[in-house]
Amino acid sequence: TEADGTRVFDLTMQRGTTDLGHGSATETWGVNGSYLGPTVRAARGERVRLNVSNELGEISTLHWHGMHLPAAMDGGPHQMIEPGETWSPQWTIDQPAASLWYHPHLHGATAEHVYRGIAGMFLIDDAETPELPSTYGVDDVPLIVQDKRFRDGQLDLRPGMFTEAGIIGSDILVNGTRAPFFDVTTEHVRLRLLNASNARTYNFTFTEGVTFALIATDGGLLAGPVRLSHLMLSPGERAEIVVSVPAGSSTVLRSVTQPLGLDMWTNRFSGGDDSLDILELRAGHSLTPNSAVPDELVAPRDLGEPAVTRTFTISGSSEFNDQTMDMGRIDEVVEVNTTEMWEVRNGTGAPHNFHVHDVQFQVLDSRDPALAGPKDTVYIPPGETVRLLMRFEHYTDPEVPYMYHCHILAHEDRGLMGQFVVI
Ligand code: C2O
Ligand code: CU
Repeated sequence: TEADGTRVFDLTMQRGTTDLGHGSATETWGVNGSYLGPTVRAARGERVRLNVSNELGEISTLHWHGMHLPAAMDGGPHQMIEPGETWSPQWTIDQPAASLWYHPHLHGATAEHVYRGIAGMFLIDDAETPELPSTYGVDDVPLIVQDKRFRDGQLDLRPGMFTEAGIIGSDILVNGTRAPFFDVTTEHVRLRLLNASNARTYNFTFTEGVTFALIATDGGLLAGPVRLSHLMLSPGERAEIVVSVPAGSSTVLRSVTQPLGLDMWTNRFSGGDDSLDILELRAGHSLTPNSAVPDELVAPRDLGEPAVTRTFTISGSSEFNDQTMDMGRIDEVVEVNTTEMWEVRNGTGAPHNFHVHDVQFQVLDSRDPALAGPKDTVYIPPGETVRLLMRFEHYTDPEVPYMYHCHILAHEDRGLMGQFVVI
């Protein structure tokens, strides 16, 4: 922390080798280490500065996914960091408690940079949060879930042959660990799930009939916990869940086959038929009592009535409204302090999702309780339309755009992305 109270983080993007379960010589990228990066944590109201150094030997960026912040600090494709340079964005944290994350966003190379290992969690704390399990690493555990494919002990970067979505792997890593387990020592455990995979959607569930309470979506806490047995997360999405594993027993967090709304062939090559073990939870014989989940979490935010409606159609795996991303073209101009409705249709037969920078939106008319909280990324099955209510506040910049895009990273790289400015 500096004299003026700014909290400073030094993040260095670098290369290294990591044992990811395929020998110790796997070439990887990481932040302040050889694979993934440290959890960055700051509180609402705090001023932060991130000194991001690029030691990768090639150009990249670092984007704060889910963050409400000025466009020039966003770390999108326009905030490029040359090799050997340091980029130091700063802003004041001004949003509720949430599990956000960071990852590169270099146009055309996001998939590769994330797949090689640049990603980490960015947690936001808020004094107004009700009491929840919150001892980091003990009863409050971030889980960065990724699928990989290996070839001769190295990360296999070749795209899948039968899918346009890039790489769908069957080797699961959690926080960079293969075949992981967690020793449960408390009655309740809060898991902060992040799907940091390039293309795979997960349908999380526990074995042994263990259910869980969903307490938060991408952008923060729900009004109240929702009991679920299954939870789907597409690339980029997060959720916080609280699970209770009976003393002396164990359960496996697993991803099972899922309703992606695809035809049989596409479903299979998108990973929709797969069943994969993610993490084993082993509970000790006596568990420490800790905070259970309260019935009420936070009052939902009222975004108001939309003044503007925009429609977007995913018309191919590289275009919205028949247009491929162009760094020099502003697609949408939004007026600050207005609420808008964005209607996004997946007009293809392939899986896509939709992510918007700077805001957390509300998914309208969804019957899915897992979409009830603040979201910044949402899955859209083929042929379906989502209606997203969002409010743009505080920050304006007529020059520097924010992005909206599909978070299947091969699609984003190929141009399924657009740019908007807030003025
Ligand atoms: Cu997680 Cu525009 O990205
Ligand atoms: Cu897509």
